[in-house]
Amino acid sequence: MARRVTLALAFTCLLAAAHAATLGVVHTEGGFVEGVSKKIGTLSPQYLDIFKGIPFGLPTKVLEKPEKHPGWSGTLKATDYKPRCMQATLPQTDVRGEMDCLYLNVWVPQSRSEVSTKLPVMVWIYGGGFLLGGGQGANFGDNYLYDGEEIALRGKVIVVTFNYRVGPLGFLSTGDANAPGNYGLWDQHLAIAWVKRNIAAFGGDPSNITLFGESAGGASVSLQTLTPYNVGLIKRAISQSGVGLCPWAIQQEPLKWAKQLASRVGCPVDDTAALANCLRGTDPRAITVAYKLELGNLQYPLVYYLAYAPVIDGDFLPDEPRNLFSNAADVDYLAGVNDMDGHLFAGVDLPVINEPLQKISADTVQQLVQGLTLPKGSGGLTIAYDLYTANWGPSPSQELMKKTVVDIETDYIFLVPTQEALAYHSQNAKSARTYSYLFSHPSRMPIYPSWAGADHAEDLQYLFGKPFRNQLAYRPQDRDVAAAMIAYWTNFAATGDPTNGPSKVPTPWLSYTTHYGMYLEINNSISYQSMKQSLRSPYVRFWAQTYRNLPSA
Ligand SMILES: *[C@@H]1O[C@H](CO)[C@@H](O)[C@H](O)[C@H]1NC(C)=O
Ligand SMILES: *[C@@H]1O[C@H](CO)[C@@H](O)[C@H](O)[C@H]1NC(C)=O
Repeated sequence: MARRVTLALAFTCLLAAAHAATLGVVHTEGGFVEGVSKKIGTLSPQYLDIFKGIPFGLPTKVLEKPEKHPGWSGTLKATDYKPRCMQATLPQTDVRGEMDCLYLNVWVPQSRSEVSTKLPVMVWIYGGGFLLGGGQGANFGDNYLYDGEEIALRGKVIVVTFNYRVGPLGFLSTGDANAPGNYGLWDQHLAIAWVKRNIAAFGGDPSNITLFGESAGGASVSLQTLTPYNVGLIKRAISQSGVGLCPWAIQQEPLKWAKQLASRVGCPVDDTAALANCLRGTDPRAITVAYKLELGNLQYPLVYYLAYAPVIDGDFLPDEPRNLFSNAADVDYLAGVNDMDGHLFAGVDLPVINEPLQKISADTVQQLVQGLTLPKGSGGLTIAYDLYTANWGPSPSQELMKKTVVDIETDYIFLVPTQEALAYHSQNAKSARTYSYLFSHPSRMPIYPSWAGADHAEDLQYLFGKPFRNQLAYRPQDRDVAAAMIAYWTNFAATGDPTNGPSKVPTPWLSYTTHYGMYLEINNSISYQSMKQSLRSPYVRFWAQTYRNLPSA
């Protein structure tokens, strides 16, 4: 009898050995956490440990910096996503999310034999105009956009996602010490510092942390590398369609917006101390719905209406971002844009561009340029308009004119600031390397005009491996794009060079220097010809030099 028990035990152990390694309960600074061990596939299964909803901060308070979570007793079951931070719903009439929102999620790939150690770590910062978003992203059922599983398994990296505050609760500022602002950036920093201190317990390498993010998340990544508070915490960074130099990344007039919001909720506006104290005592739901992003009949281009964003507070950001690149001298940096990043904005400013049956006039295009060059008056308008219409000829086609609108907005809002950030980064680099890309895989959205390229945020589905997950919804060429992106991104996280690392890539990605301006064009047919030079340099020169040096109107 005893022998049979022993045999049965031995058999159980054998079964367990055939199973994957799993972390089981992990000891973090706050206490024990237990996630789930997941098996994917049947013939040659893969395994990973997933932890969802680990707290890294206390419930947030209006206009206060976040505070570290003090911990818990017993073992925390980390199996479900936590609500996002409080923000307006899409129709902007109500709120969703919670003040208790500082939670993070961790995906750890495992091999069959023993638990992983010293894995590179990738920390995701979501976008959403500093107005909305959550660590898990939008979802269809249980398919979440920012599910880290595919990146973790294919790239053999740990993926971390987390929540940070957005909208007025994340970024309202009186422009002085009474409400300095940047609360959302402090939340991000708290999460990054938590990863640095705790990720070794999950098998991660704390000296190998890569931030990556898109849109406002890309700008956040950039600002996190520029603040003095993260020096030594971050090894590498990836900014997709957003950098700290974007015109919308810094709010230069926070007090104007703070006063507008304060008066809407019945707080005093003439004294910033009274204003801030009153808001601290106001229902955060009321604060959240008191700001509405207008999306129609705008007097100026949409980009001017993004009210709540990071500010130069003299602390987290001691100066204008362009003067802070020495803080990133040892942070490897990879940044790029989508070839039609501005399409989303252009479609709000001039909806006619998406109407095949409606005509756009040269006057309309000129008005848009006027709106974007407002700070420099007629001088800026004339040069910009001439530059962008130089290839129009006497009777430009509707398609050419509409495409020009998208180019103007893409350049001004995303592409030019990204090229400037790459240049500053490479000029200030000590040990750091710099890489640039252009993502041009055309949109698959049937409602888009036939000439549309890659719109804002279209890169996300490939990076997060959706074409592998939803085989039927995507074509083989979409899986090629996803495989290439994940390989380059995770190699970069492992070695600081997107070409070298555990994953095979289609072609070597040469690093960026200001002299050659090398960039990789990412689409479904990447070859040595995809390495190109001097992305839209006449337009970059115009905005970054000619335009900037014009006198203000
Ligand atoms: C980062 O991870 C890679 C791959 O595991 C490893 O070769 C490297 O030594 C690690 N550390 C740093 C600082 O790059
Ligand atoms: C993909 O990139 C290659 C190399 O840059 C380019 O020649 C080709 O036109 C691109 N394809 C699409 C569909 O944009």
